[in-house]
Amino acid sequence: MEVLATAAEGTAAILAEECVALGMRVVHVRRDGVVLDLNTTTTSRALVHLRIATHLLLAVEDIRSGDADELYNAVRNLDWTHWLDDRHTIAVRASGALPGSAEAPKRRGRPSRGTGIRTHMFAAQRAKDAICDHLLGRLGARPNIDADDPDVQIVLRFRGDRCGVYLDISGDAMHHRAYRVDAIEEAVSETSAAALVATVGWDGRRPLIDPMCGSGTLIIEALMRHLNIAPGMKRDFPIERWPHHGQAMGLLLEKEREAAQAVATEAIANATGLRVIAGDFDRAALRATRTHLERAGLADLVEVVRHNVRRMDAPADDAVILCNPPVGERIGGREVTDLYEAMGQRWSTFVGADAWVLEGHEGFVRHFGYRPVHTWPLRAGSQELRWHHLRLDDTHRLPAPPITASTEPDDRSAAAPSESASAAPVSAPPTVGSPAE
Ligand SMILES: C[S@@+](CC[C@H](N)C(=O)[O-])C[C@H]1O[C@@H](n2cnc3c(N)ncnc32)[C@H](O)[C@@H]1O
Repeated sequence: MEVLATAAEGTAAILAEECVALGMRVVHVRRDGVVLDLNTTTTSRALVHLRIATHLLLAVEDIRSGDADELYNAVRNLDWTHWLDDRHTIAVRASGALPGSAEAPKRRGRPSRGTGIRTHMFAAQRAKDAICDHLLGRLGARPNIDADDPDVQIVLRFRGDRCGVYLDISGDAMHHRAYRVDAIEEAVSETSAAALVATVGWDGRRPLIDPMCGSGTLIIEALMRHLNIAPGMKRDFPIERWPHHGQAMGLLLEKEREAAQAVATEAIANATGLRVIAGDFDRAALRATRTHLERAGLADLVEVVRHNVRRMDAPADDAVILCNPPVGERIGGREVTDLYEAMGQRWSTFVGADAWVLEGHEGFVRHFGYRPVHTWPLRAGSQELRWHHLRLDDTHRLPAPPITASTEPDDRSAAAPSESASAAPVSAPPTVGSPAE
């Protein structure tokens, strides 16, 4: 069966590599995700093991949807009895470029008519009517609608006059790893963090630090990847509730989850020789990180420290630094660019270090002062982001940036109270290399 594994913009190619590594057949890579050819076994593997996909959508049909009647008729003509019955609840959601909208792709010789479908809600409503009318005609009864927690979620993805009809196999579950409860502002999503750390290739031999860890997402995803902890091993999925196919999928998924849990337990128990540090100057962020590490079963593998990146010491030679600095214009009364300059200067003393930085400030590279080895362009909503690999050696150093008023030494008095916090660790002493349990 054809399944679309959706991904955040800029991460589809990384997701495709993950799919191939898990033994899945990639049909093609699109801007919004990866089209896979899966059977029931590889579907259950995808649900439990894929880290980067945001949704798994089973492709039902690609239909014409130029106007409301065309949409209704095309949806009504699909054989819904193959997927649905009158005893399970359904809901329909729609997204994408509606026909006639500015975003709709222009087709040569066939301009988008764009009549009658003005909102996604209307499109979803018409499709829902068509499905219910189809089932009424075939089974003599309609399914009930449950907008909040349907047994089967039908998804319409519009591309102007055409629309992909899908069934949502995963629900929102792909985002949720069950460890994150206190996402701080500006936290990166788990699936995006998984895509970022996949590019790093950290093999556990070098010290790993996120010095601005926020809620700890990058460090946790890096460790989960390294230890082969499956993100879906504790989750249920909507496909288990489907009529006709749900029970069989439930049994397959149960086996997949049990096997994944056994692998994870052993990996955590045998994790030795790792040096992993999560730091931040914000107490609430550090509290969230500790909670999340506990919930992920990784607390004994990570040192949590309170420090200011402006004054932090190198954790060791050859460190791998993961980092997602703030993007706002000002922080603690100072220009955020002043923080980037301080980071670059401080880290220039770290021997053999590589930094991987997610940033959304167009002046970041200039102020940080290193030419990236590689940059991945990404997008979160309307925000353009970049993920840089920066090698912190003289070869990659840029000429010094111009001195600005906020870099004057006496500007420190303007720092936020938490910025002047001492660099003392606030967690238990390092437990590097000790078994988790
Ligand atoms: C964009 S958030 C990081 C979000 C994180 N990647 C996550 O997913 O939760 C930036 C973090 O940098 C921290 N920060 C800002 N300036 C800092 C400094 N000078 N020293 C240490 N941490 C700092 C903030 O407290 C915040 O938690």
